[in-house]
Amino acid sequence: MITVISGTNRDGSNTRKVAKVYETYLKSLGEEVKFCDLCEMPLDMLKNDMYGNPSELFAKFQNELIVPAKKFVMVLPEYNGSFPGVFKLLIDACDIGASFYGKKALLAGVAAGRAGNLRGLDNLTNMLNYIKVDVLQNKLPISGIKGLLDENDEFNHEDTIALIKAQVDQFLKF
Ligand SMILES: Cc1cc2nc3c(=O)[nH]c(=O)nc-3n(C[C@H](O)[C@H](O)[C@H](O)COP(=O)(O)O)c2cc1C
Repeated sequence: MITVISGTNRDGSNTRKVAKVYETYLKSLGEEVKFCDLCEMPLDMLKNDMYGNPSELFAKFQNELIVPAKKFVMVLPEYNGSFPGVFKLLIDACDIGASFYGKKALLAGVAAGRAGNLRGLDNLTNMLNYIKVDVLQNKLPISGIKGLLDENDEFNHEDTIALIKAQVDQFLKF
Protein backbone atom coordinates (compact mmCIF):
# COMPACT_ATOMS: atom_id res chain seq x y z
CA MET A 1 0.00 0.00 0.00
CA ILE A 2 1.17 3.51 -0.85
CA THR A 3 0.16 6.55 1.21
CA VAL A 4 0.12 9.93 -0.52
CA ILE A 5 0.73 12.68 2.05
CA SER A 6 -0.45 16.23 1.39
CA GLY A 7 2.06 17.96 3.64
CA THR A 8 0.18 20.99 4.92
CA ASN A 9 -2.88 21.76 7.02
CA ARG A 10 -3.65 24.95 5.04
CA ASP A 11 -7.24 24.83 3.80
CA GLY A 12 -7.50 25.02 0.01
CA SER A 13 -3.76 24.40 -0.43
CA ASN A 14 -2.21 23.96 -3.85
CA THR A 15 -0.19 21.11 -2.38
CA ARG A 16 -3.39 19.08 -1.97
CA LYS A 17 -4.27 19.67 -5.63
CA VAL A 18 -0.88 18.32 -6.71
CA ALA A 19 -1.05 15.41 -4.25
CA LYS A 20 -4.43 14.42 -5.72
CA VAL A 21 -2.79 14.06 -9.15
CA TYR A 22 -0.34 11.53 -7.65
CA GLU A 23 -3.22 9.65 -6.01
CA THR A 24 -5.30 9.56 -9.20
CA TYR A 25 -2.40 8.34 -11.33
CA LEU A 26 -1.40 5.63 -8.85
CA LYS A 27 -5.01 4.42 -8.69
CA SER A 28 -5.22 4.37 -12.50
CA LEU A 29 -2.27 1.96 -12.43
CA GLY A 30 -4.15 -0.35 -10.07
CA GLU A 31 -2.11 0.49 -6.96
CA GLU A 32 -3.65 0.37 -3.50
CA VAL A 33 -3.49 3.98 -2.30
CA LYS A 34 -4.50 5.97 0.78
CA PHE A 35 -4.57 9.74 1.04
CA CYS A 36 -3.22 11.45 4.16
CA ASP A 37 -4.44 15.04 4.38
CA LEU A 38 -2.83 16.95 7.24
CA CYS A 39 -5.99 19.10 7.44
CA GLU A 40 -7.51 15.98 8.98
CA MET A 41 -4.76 15.26 11.52
CA PRO A 42 -6.51 15.01 14.92
CA LEU A 43 -6.26 18.26 16.86
CA ASP A 44 -5.87 16.53 20.19
CA MET A 45 -2.46 15.17 19.22
CA LEU A 46 -0.56 17.98 20.95
CA LYS A 47 -0.87 16.35 24.31
CA ASN A 48 2.06 16.27 26.70
CA ASP A 49 2.44 12.56 26.12
CA MET A 50 2.26 12.63 22.33
CA TYR A 51 5.80 11.21 22.12
CA GLY A 52 5.06 7.88 23.73
CA ASN A 53 1.39 7.53 24.44
CA PRO A 54 -0.55 9.10 21.57
CA SER A 55 -4.19 10.12 21.80
CA GLU A 56 -6.69 7.56 20.60
CA LEU A 57 -7.55 9.65 17.55
CA PHE A 58 -3.94 10.14 16.53
CA ALA A 59 -3.19 6.43 17.05
CA LYS A 60 -6.08 5.63 14.68
CA PHE A 61 -4.81 8.15 12.11
CA GLN A 62 -1.29 6.67 12.30
CA ASN A 63 -2.47 3.06 12.24
CA GLU A 64 -4.69 3.58 9.20
CA LEU A 65 -2.53 5.84 7.08
CA ILE A 66 1.13 5.56 8.08
CA VAL A 67 1.96 2.19 9.64
CA PRO A 68 0.49 -0.04 6.86
CA ALA A 69 2.18 1.89 4.02
CA LYS A 70 5.20 0.29 2.35
CA LYS A 71 5.89 3.47 0.37
CA PHE A 72 5.06 7.16 0.72
CA VAL A 73 4.49 9.92 -1.79
CA MET A 74 5.24 13.13 0.14
CA VAL A 75 4.11 16.41 -1.43
CA LEU A 76 5.51 19.34 0.52
CA PRO A 77 4.84 23.04 0.06
CA GLU A 78 7.66 25.52 0.54
CA TYR A 79 7.05 27.50 3.73
CA ASN A 80 9.85 29.87 4.70
CA GLY A 81 12.39 28.01 2.62
CA SER A 82 11.54 24.50 3.81
CA PHE A 83 8.75 22.03 4.51
CA PRO A 84 5.96 22.94 6.98
CA GLY A 85 6.30 22.39 10.71
CA VAL A 86 3.03 20.50 10.79
CA PHE A 87 4.60 17.79 8.61
CA LYS A 88 7.56 17.46 11.03
CA LEU A 89 5.00 17.24 13.82
CA LEU A 90 3.39 14.25 12.10
CA ILE A 91 6.74 12.49 11.87
CA ASP A 92 7.72 13.29 15.47
CA ALA A 93 4.37 12.03 16.78
CA CYS A 94 4.56 8.69 14.94
CA ASP A 95 6.02 5.44 16.21
CA ILE A 96 9.15 5.78 14.07
CA GLY A 97 10.08 2.11 13.81
CA ALA A 98 6.62 0.88 12.81
CA SER A 99 5.91 3.91 10.66
CA PHE A 100 9.12 4.47 8.72
CA TYR A 101 11.99 1.99 9.12
CA GLY A 102 12.84 0.19 5.86
CA LYS A 103 10.29 2.09 3.75
CA LYS A 104 10.62 4.19 0.58
CA ALA A 105 9.58 7.72 -0.35
CA LEU A 106 9.00 9.87 -3.39
CA LEU A 107 9.29 13.62 -2.77
CA ALA A 108 7.73 16.57 -4.59
CA GLY A 109 7.84 20.25 -3.70
CA VAL A 110 5.25 22.96 -4.39
CA ALA A 111 6.14 26.65 -4.24
CA ALA A 112 4.83 30.00 -5.28
CA GLY A 113 8.43 31.08 -5.87
CA ARG A 114 11.20 29.74 -8.06
CA ALA A 115 12.84 27.11 -5.87
CA GLY A 116 10.06 24.50 -5.87
CA ASN A 117 11.00 23.72 -2.26
CA LEU A 118 14.23 22.01 -3.35
CA ARG A 119 15.94 23.07 -0.10
CA GLY A 120 13.09 21.59 1.90
CA LEU A 121 13.21 18.35 -0.11
CA ASP A 122 16.96 18.07 0.48
CA ASN A 123 16.54 18.74 4.21
CA LEU A 124 13.80 16.16 4.33
CA THR A 125 15.94 13.61 2.47
CA ASN A 126 18.55 13.84 5.24
CA MET A 127 15.90 13.44 7.89
CA LEU A 128 14.22 10.51 6.13
CA ASN A 129 17.55 8.74 5.66
CA TYR A 130 18.11 9.15 9.41
CA ILE A 131 14.84 7.32 10.08
CA LYS A 132 15.83 4.59 7.60
CA VAL A 133 13.66 5.67 4.68
CA ASP A 134 15.17 5.38 1.18
CA VAL A 135 14.33 8.37 -1.01
CA LEU A 136 13.92 8.22 -4.79
CA GLN A 137 16.71 10.35 -6.25
CA ASN A 138 14.32 11.96 -8.74
CA LYS A 139 12.72 14.72 -6.65
CA LEU A 140 10.25 17.01 -8.40
CA PRO A 141 10.35 20.73 -7.55
CA ILE A 142 7.18 22.41 -8.82
CA SER A 143 7.89 26.15 -8.98
CA GLY A 144 5.56 29.07 -9.69
CA ILE A 145 2.53 26.93 -8.88
CA LYS A 146 0.06 29.80 -9.27
CA GLY A 147 1.03 30.10 -12.95
CA LEU A 148 0.32 26.39 -13.45
CA LEU A 149 -3.32 26.54 -12.28
CA ASP A 150 -6.15 26.83 -14.79
CA GLU A 151 -8.93 29.46 -14.83
CA ASN A 152 -10.81 27.52 -12.13
CA ASP A 153 -7.73 27.41 -9.91
CA GLU A 154 -7.36 23.68 -10.56
CA PHE A 155 -4.08 21.92 -11.27
CA ASN A 156 -4.26 20.37 -14.75
CA HIS A 157 -0.90 21.49 -16.14
CA GLU A 158 -0.08 18.86 -18.77
CA ASP A 159 3.70 19.22 -18.91
CA THR A 160 4.01 19.02 -15.12
CA ILE A 161 1.59 16.08 -14.94
CA ALA A 162 3.77 14.27 -17.50
CA LEU A 163 6.76 14.77 -15.17
CA ILE A 164 4.70 13.49 -12.22
CA LYS A 165 3.74 10.35 -14.14
CA ALA A 166 7.35 9.66 -15.16
CA GLN A 167 8.45 10.11 -11.55
CA VAL A 168 5.74 7.72 -10.30
CA ASP A 169 6.68 5.12 -12.94
CA GLN A 170 10.25 5.24 -11.64
CA PHE A 171 9.06 5.04 -8.05
CA LEU A 172 7.05 1.89 -8.66
CA LYS A 173 10.24 0.15 -9.82
CA PHE A 174 12.29 1.57 -6.91
C1 LIG B 1 3.60 30.13 5.96
C2 LIG B 1 3.93 30.22 4.49
C3 LIG B 1 5.25 30.42 4.11
C4 LIG B 1 5.58 30.49 2.75
N1 LIG B 1 6.90 30.61 2.39
C5 LIG B 1 7.23 30.53 1.06
C6 LIG B 1 8.61 30.49 0.66
O1 LIG B 1 9.53 30.52 1.48
N2 LIG B 1 8.88 30.41 -0.66
C7 LIG B 1 7.90 30.32 -1.61
O2 LIG B 1 8.21 30.21 -2.80
N3 LIG B 1 6.60 30.35 -1.26
C8 LIG B 1 6.24 30.42 0.05
N4 LIG B 1 4.92 30.39 0.43
C9 LIG B 1 3.90 30.27 -0.61
C10 LIG B 1 3.58 28.79 -0.93
O3 LIG B 1 4.69 28.19 -1.56
C11 LIG B 1 2.35 28.74 -1.82
O4 LIG B 1 1.23 29.06 -1.02
C12 LIG B 1 2.16 27.44 -2.59
O5 LIG B 1 0.85 27.46 -3.15
C13 LIG B 1 2.32 26.18 -1.77
O6 LIG B 1 1.63 26.27 -0.54
P1 LIG B 1 0.11 25.71 -0.33
O7 LIG B 1 0.17 24.27 -0.61
O8 LIG B 1 -0.21 26.05 1.08
O9 LIG B 1 -0.77 26.42 -1.32
C14 LIG B 1 4.57 30.37 1.77
C15 LIG B 1 3.23 30.17 2.18
C16 LIG B 1 2.91 30.09 3.52
C17 LIG B 1 1.47 29.82 3.92
